[in-house]
Amino acid sequence: MQNLTVLILAAGKGTRLKSTLPKVLHLLAGKPLIEHVVRAALPLNPSATCVVVGYEGGRVQAAISHLSLQSVAQEPQLGTGHAVQVAAAFWKPNKGNLLVLSGDVPLISTQTLQRLLEQHSQSGASATLLSTKLNEAAGYGRLIRGADGNVERIVEHKDATEAERQISEINTGIYCFTIADLAQIIDKLAAENSQKEYYLTDCIGLLRMQNKRVGAVVCEDSSEVNGINSRSELAELEHIVRQKKLKQLMGDGVTIIDPVSTYVEPDVQVGPDSVLYPNVFLENATVIGAGCRIYPNVRITSSTIEDGAVVLDSCLISESLVGAGSQIGPFAHLRNHTVIGSQVRIGNFVEVKKSQLGDKTKAAHLSYLGDAEIGREVNVGAGTITCNYDGVNKNKTTIEDGVFVGSDSQLIAPVTVHRGAYIAAGSTIQHDVPEDALAIARSQQVNKQHWARKRRESRPKE
Ligand code: UD1
Ligand code: CA
Repeated sequence: MQNLTVLILAAGKGTRLKSTLPKVLHLLAGKPLIEHVVRAALPLNPSATCVVVGYEGGRVQAAISHLSLQSVAQEPQLGTGHAVQVAAAFWKPNKGNLLVLSGDVPLISTQTLQRLLEQHSQSGASATLLSTKLNEAAGYGRLIRGADGNVERIVEHKDATEAERQISEINTGIYCFTIADLAQIIDKLAAENSQKEYYLTDCIGLLRMQNKRVGAVVCEDSSEVNGINSRSELAELEHIVRQKKLKQLMGDGVTIIDPVSTYVEPDVQVGPDSVLYPNVFLENATVIGAGCRIYPNVRITSSTIEDGAVVLDSCLISESLVGAGSQIGPFAHLRNHTVIGSQVRIGNFVEVKKSQLGDKTKAAHLSYLGDAEIGREVNVGAGTITCNYDGVNKNKTTIEDGVFVGSDSQLIAPVTVHRGAYIAAGSTIQHDVPEDALAIARSQQVNKQHWARKRRESRPKE
């Protein structure tokens, strides 16, 4: 929309959350509340977007710094109307309309905002607010409509009479104002109410007193405009977002055995015919290909799992890639930009950090592979450890194609094992191993004949 300025109110502490973290930084579906609001507004192409911060403002600014928005500090926080006053230098000089959003109403959709803006433009009203109807309206501001059905004012729950509290149509805290008209009344707000705050909602009555028109768009899906004021409301929205995402995935051909205990964040993609078992967590921009199976108690974050891969029970995979047809786990940990090729097998109690493993390589049991570049068709025996850290630096281990690393070997990095070489089990490798060589680096075995029998005889049991 042309000439659109967006203002997001996010200065409140959120007293009812009983938290040291500002309300808008509490996470919903893995993202701070404020980020949901910003993401809903950005597709409207505003010419400027500003966030009003207050309580722990520095933390809020830091959390949204990647979104390149402006911010204004409101100190102290004297109410929603005061927040808009404090930000006047940001919006007043602009032409057109001001969209005011609440940082604590996270599920608002771009579509609904578009509908609000369209009606505002078409009606020529000075303000258009978004309302919804609730069975349980306690806590919200109510819309007072005149005999002609037009909005006359908003009354806050705490200031409402018993009769007004019966009204089910509530203010969502989302408004579109014509900037020129808002500019004329914004300084006229008074804090004459039960909370001694400057209410933005009073702007509606003030505009009506000037015979300006005020419109309302009713949001049919009230779950979109639920405000978050408590931890239980946060949990309710979490449930709504999660079920919506799971429904979408199932619609796209993903099997989810138990949607009640499967946690998939909104940005995750999962291909058709993949199966998610209970207690799976898929986070951030994780991508799961087609025909994958993700078994119980697996958490995958910011990672890609290619087609046909299987992640067995109780694995943690972060910032990593697993190639097609590979099998990971149970109890494996892949992290920090690990890249696993296709048809690879990573077995139980294997940790892989910042390493590449080529196609068809196996590390099936009890290993730590860190800062390693491992080729194709390598066999990493049980208990193999890359000793990558010397106390100061992290060093690289290179294992070329076709190498066989015997069980319980230590590879002291930096070190290279060249193509086709063998490492005898139990070796501590500190020098490079040439191509096709056998490296044995362990102390020789000595068998002392009859030693055990003699010991028993010299020290008979009591
Ligand atoms: C507000 C509305 C109410 C509406 C409800 C919808 C007012 C007076 N009331 O009530 O009509 O039904 O939202 O959710 O506006 N904020 C600031 N600075 C302040 C105070 C608040 O930036 O000084 C921010 C908060 O961080 C929050 C938003 O404004 O993001 C709303 O504030 P909140 O205190 O939650 O208002 P409600 O009591 O929910
Ligand atoms: Ca609120």
